[in-house]
Amino acid sequence: MTTLLINIKQLLQVRETNVSKVSGADMKQLPMLENAYVYLVDDKIASFGLMADIEIASADTIIDCTNKVVLPTWCDSHTHLVYAGNRAQEFVDRINGLSYEEIANRGGGILNSAKKLQETSEDALFEQSATRLENVMHMGIGAIEIKSGYGLTTEAELKMLRVAKRLKEIYNFPIKTTFLGAHAVPANFKENQDGYMDLVINEMLPKVAEENLAEYVDIFCEKGYFTLEDTERLLQAAQQYKLIPKIHVNQFNAFGGVALGVQYNALSVDHLEELNDEDIQALQGSNTMPVALPSCSYFLSIPYTPARKIIDAGLPIALATDYNPGSTPSGNMNFVVSTACIKMKMTPEEAINAATINGAYAMGLSETHGSITQGKAANLIITKEIESFHVLPYAFGDNCIDKVLINGSVI
Ligand code: NIG
Ligand code: FE
Repeated sequence: MTTLLINIKQLLQVRETNVSKVSGADMKQLPMLENAYVYLVDDKIASFGLMADIEIASADTIIDCTNKVVLPTWCDSHTHLVYAGNRAQEFVDRINGLSYEEIANRGGGILNSAKKLQETSEDALFEQSATRLENVMHMGIGAIEIKSGYGLTTEAELKMLRVAKRLKEIYNFPIKTTFLGAHAVPANFKENQDGYMDLVINEMLPKVAEENLAEYVDIFCEKGYFTLEDTERLLQAAQQYKLIPKIHVNQFNAFGGVALGVQYNALSVDHLEELNDEDIQALQGSNTMPVALPSCSYFLSIPYTPARKIIDAGLPIALATDYNPGSTPSGNMNFVVSTACIKMKMTPEEAINAATINGAYAMGLSETHGSITQGKAANLIITKEIESFHVLPYAFGDNCIDKVLINGSVI
């Protein structure tokens, strides 16, 4: 099957040879071709170039992209898309004055979602999650990471990861999975946090590895959740199963989680709403991608990750949704990209780099996704007619997408 996209107004994120990530001042450059074509063979990008140089005469499908922008699909490297029900009541409680912390301390928050998930069958959980996945695919996501962490028992954690695995198989869609058993301490371990860590490390971790259910390991390293000691114990244990860390750090407090993640070669450190100079220092020269989640800041009214500070220090940054029922009930990467520009003062070029190539890096997919490069997956966004790609973040809340192609097919 061949597909030819012609008369593309702007073809974004064009990389002749692949780069794994872009950092610092380079993030301002978004390589692009104007009046271009892309030729797809089966599920891969076969070639691209200027319309003036086109040599391909025919294709099974021709898509005219006059006045439209084409770019690689968004790479969402941080989600909790598999969850049960919702927490709309807590949303109303927060409007009426309770804080996120107060709700969690009353047994709401993550524990509330865990209770719902434990009571939901694997099939029902699959159905709910599949609906969400289809929804975000239509909003332009072409690769995604999904975490466990709303199970908090061995059985329920495995159930979440099996659902993610099923999604991957059924949709033939790039899904990376992360084991987040240490997301919150369940009520029955309230006085025995070490006991819960024992369960995570000695029972859950080996089972996750045995069934090959995750590639990454995560922990919510935060006051009131898990300590630096818990984090180190987990990351150390995970090494023997070759699970690479991608961790929740610095959402509300900065106390050394970033440096610890870097020390254990984390692929990413995520949230970073609170970020001090030592954290920046720790990231220098590392392979760890800092990941910002602006929709979470928006929804919880907490600070935004200081993207300028990160980029101006010469570091890379990725953007992701954090799609989850508590802090970010939205899987819309278009909103993330807009919000990064509006609230974090990232330029459209920087935000698009952060949401494509750097997002792919943050989930180990930069060889196959995140740019228009020969041999990469034919996962593309075709916009509606717009003046330039700047309109994408500018027209916040608007749907600028006309079509999404996954593996070379319009979905
Ligand atoms: O990334 N911070 C930890 N976990 C999720 C939210 C958890 C919840 O409230 O359900 C997050 O924001
Ligand atoms: Fe998260």
